[in-house]
This record gives sequence, structure tokens and C-alpha cells, in this order.
Amino acid sequence: MEKELNGDILNIPQHIAIILDGNGRWAKKRGMPRNYGHMQGAKNVEQICQDAYDLGVKYLTVYAFSTENWKRSVEEVSGIMNILRQYLNSFKTHIKRDKLTVRVIGDRTRLADDINQLIDELWELSKDNQGLTLTIALNYGSRDEITRAVRRIATDTKEGRISPDAIDEAMISSYLDTEFMPDPDLLIRTSGELRLSNYLLWQLAYTEFYFTDVCWPDFDKEELIKAIHYFNGRDRRYGGVK
Ligand code: IPE
Ligand code: IPE
Ligand code: MG
Repeated sequence: MEKELNGDILNIPQHIAIILDGNGRWAKKRGMPRNYGHMQGAKNVEQICQDAYDLGVKYLTVYAFSTENWKRSVEEVSGIMNILRQYLNSFKTHIKRDKLTVRVIGDRTRLADDINQLIDELWELSKDNQGLTLTIALNYGSRDEITRAVRRIATDTKEGRISPDAIDEAMISSYLDTEFMPDPDLLIRTSGELRLSNYLLWQLAYTEFYFTDVCWPDFDKEELIKAIHYFNGRDRRYGGVK
């Protein structure tokens, strides 16, 4: 989709994936506890959803909690889960107004029952909305996702539902948690780290990467537009010749 922005015609990525990083450092710089950073980070997700939607983005997929993040202190993990509860609850009141669809990827079996219930409720409330699809990666790890998919493919093969010859890239994609979304066009990672930390390894095969030193709670619409400008400057060839 194209959009005019301050005189420039910009090609807007349909799907942006974000590794929202730097909440802890952002808080530390202000002499505040890490969980304060997570709270500001959660508020910022809400704001960026609106900004992205205004710009014409259709899918936003944010990495909120990784399979590795359980290794953090009990205090931090329970703080993050409480912020998540508040955040999902607050969505219930404005999800219709904002036309958002909320989905979750990751292994939900390790999430608390009430959080799983909230996720189901939000899906029920929002499934007919036509606006932005916000996907939250929770207890998500790409290797874990692929492992779960392989296990299901193996079971379906063993039980005769699919034949080994029918397994192709499209079928593998359809067994992943992300089966309902197109692959991301643009990946953003905040706070200056240059790694994927086990995020969407299969889905990012042809995605453009944008890294910024800005910490997540400070990543605003202006920063988002900078990332989209960067995306527009790339020469996207998908492995073919130009
Ligand atoms: C990202 O911020 C949010 C989560 C991983 C939950 P961090 O908590 O990783 O912040 P830094 O990297 O320690 O600054
Ligand atoms: C990646 O950030 C996971 C999330 C943003 C949820 P981390 O801060 O946990 O990643 P590492 O540990 O620096 O690789
Ligand atoms: Mg981090």
C-alpha cells in the first residue's frame, strides 16, 4: 500500500514484526525498577498499534516474552505477567473502537489459566474486526514453534493424514503458529542489539531488518516512520535478478 507523507510517497509494509527491547535499560537510566520499563513498554505497544494502523500497516507482530525469558528473576517474570493481565484487560474496553484483532503466538500451555482465558475472550471479541491484526508473541521461541510443528507433522504422517511426499514449504508454514499471517516485510529491533533472539526464524527469511539504538518505551511514530523510510530505500530482490 502507498501513502503520501509530508510530500513523499511511501510504500507501507503490510506486516511489521518488532523485537521490543530495552525496557530494562530505559528504566535503569531513570533510576527506576525494570518493571517500570515494562509498564511503559506495554503502553507504547498500544500507541504504536494506532500509529501503525494510521499509516496503513495491516499486521503488527510483537515479541513480548520469549521461551528464554522465564530465566529472569521471579519478581520480574511475575511483574511482566501482571502487566500483561492489565494490558489484556484494558483491551477489552476499547478493542471494538480501535478495530483491532488480537492474536497470540507461542506455547500457551505454560501461561496462567486466567491469562489464557483473557486471550480467548479477546479473540472472541475481536475476530470480526477489520483493522490491524496485533499478534503478541508470548512464551514464544522460534525453535520451540518449529519443534511443535514437526511433532504434529510427524503424528499426522504416522496416522496417515498426510503423506511424506506432500510435505512442502507451504505445508510447514501451515503448521506454524503464524499460519494466519503473511511473512513480515520489515523487522524492527530496538535498543541497539543486533540479533534475532529466537524470533520468527522461518518467517523472516526474506524480511528487511531495521535496528535502532532507541529503547522501546521511546520508540514513537516518528521512529516508526524512520524505519519505514529505511524500508523504502531497500532494493528488494527476493533472490532473483533485477
Ligand atoms: C524487552 O526489554 C522486554 C522483554 C524482554 C520482556 P528487556 O527487559 O529485555 O530490556 P533490557 O534489554 O534488559 O534493557
Ligand atoms: C528478546 O529480548 C525477547 C523479547 C523482546 C521478548 P531479550 O532481551 O530477552 O533478548 P536477549 O536475551 O537480549 O537475546
Ligand atoms: Mg533485552
